Amino acid sequence: MNNQTKIEEAGFQPASRIAAIGVSKILQIGARAAAMKKDGLPVIILGAGEPDFDTPDNVKAAAKAAIDRGDTKYTALDGTPALKKAISEKFRRENNVDYALEEITVATGAKQILFNAFMATVNPGDEVIIPTPYWTSYSDIVEICGGVPVLIPCEAEAGFRLKAEQLEKAITPKTRWVLLNSPSNPSGAAYSEADYRPLLDVLLRHPHVWLMVDDMYEHIVYDGFRFVTPVAIEPRLKSRALTINGVSKAYAMTGWRIGYAGGPKALIKAMAVIQSQATSCPSSVSQAASVEALNGPQDFLKDRQASFKHRRDLVVSALNAIPGLACRTPEGAFYTFSGCAGMIGKTTPRGKRIEADSDFTDYLLEDANVAVVPGSAFGLSPYFRISYATSEAELTEALKRIADACARLS
Ligand SMILES: Cc1ncc(COP(=O)(O)O)c(C=O)c1O
Repeated sequence: MNNQTKIEEAGFQPASRIAAIGVSKILQIGARAAAMKKDGLPVIILGAGEPDFDTPDNVKAAAKAAIDRGDTKYTALDGTPALKKAISEKFRRENNVDYALEEITVATGAKQILFNAFMATVNPGDEVIIPTPYWTSYSDIVEICGGVPVLIPCEAEAGFRLKAEQLEKAITPKTRWVLLNSPSNPSGAAYSEADYRPLLDVLLRHPHVWLMVDDMYEHIVYDGFRFVTPVAIEPRLKSRALTINGVSKAYAMTGWRIGYAGGPKALIKAMAVIQSQATSCPSSVSQAASVEALNGPQDFLKDRQASFKHRRDLVVSALNAIPGLACRTPEGAFYTFSGCAGMIGKTTPRGKRIEADSDFTDYLLEDANVAVVPGSAFGLSPYFRISYATSEAELTEALKRIADACARLS
């Protein structure tokens, strides 16, 4: 994508499938911030896409027990029967959706689920509709698989949500998938049943279009928001929908690398073909840990939600107190996606004009030593994303620095 740095190295010619794709802007900013920190600068990084909680103790214990009983070999290709059963029960219990074991797949993170799904279904030139702002990996994975991301801007005024008219207009004979993510990374916006309904009606009228939903942040929602997954609202779409989820965010298990999905048997089988030649199976120990995560006590999720909500409120109100910034209150996830149109056209104390959101975030990093990610990395400008999955003390300090830095612009 054009918001990323191309891989350029003298004498090295990458394959054409990745020639136009670079290292993610988020990783670049993270690396730069980490280098500054190493040089002794007091950098605060608000870029992390992972909870600052630890994996629950019962989950760790299950992993240790798995090692001790010798669960250290290759497992079934796309998930152990025990984990598929736990996932099937989770879908029934929490989402009111029935997926049989052969309609479930497990992979090395939800990222690999997305990769397997697109590799297994997208032919060169096939279109994938992605509302923006979007999680950066979506469009890059589609492109690697030879598809064409069709990006549809969904501004703050529209709640960062796709509208039925936009979807209807974007569908062509080449549309293979529409990909929806609720609650969203980066906007935190979520679709209620009423928000989803008109979109699902559009899809019912276009039987060649499949629906991929990423429910990764399902358990991180606020203010009584009722999470619902599309297949539960419209079972007629189940035969052409892939419902993606994982343990990374809800159970603070990003490093364990387990994601999963429910979908029609034929699609699940096709995805297994890709996985069989990519990784053979997900980690045996991580699968055992995930069984415990899904079957074990869930009450701690409420406490974690309350902690995230407290931090969300702190960040949103601090951002909205800064003239020139405008932050919508997100329904879920642990990100804010704040507009920064009021900063465009201003000049930094060093005389640099802020032309784009990436200039603003560069300024925040250089002058305030706060690392945040520009909206351009997520396909929508001028905005910037803050991840508030960090301590309240760090957030308070970072927001004070951002306010001071904004006040120094002229
Ligand atoms: C919206 C969304 N989906 C999927 C993922 C990937 O999760 P996993 O760790 O399971 O690969 C992320 C991670 O940041 C995400 O933000």
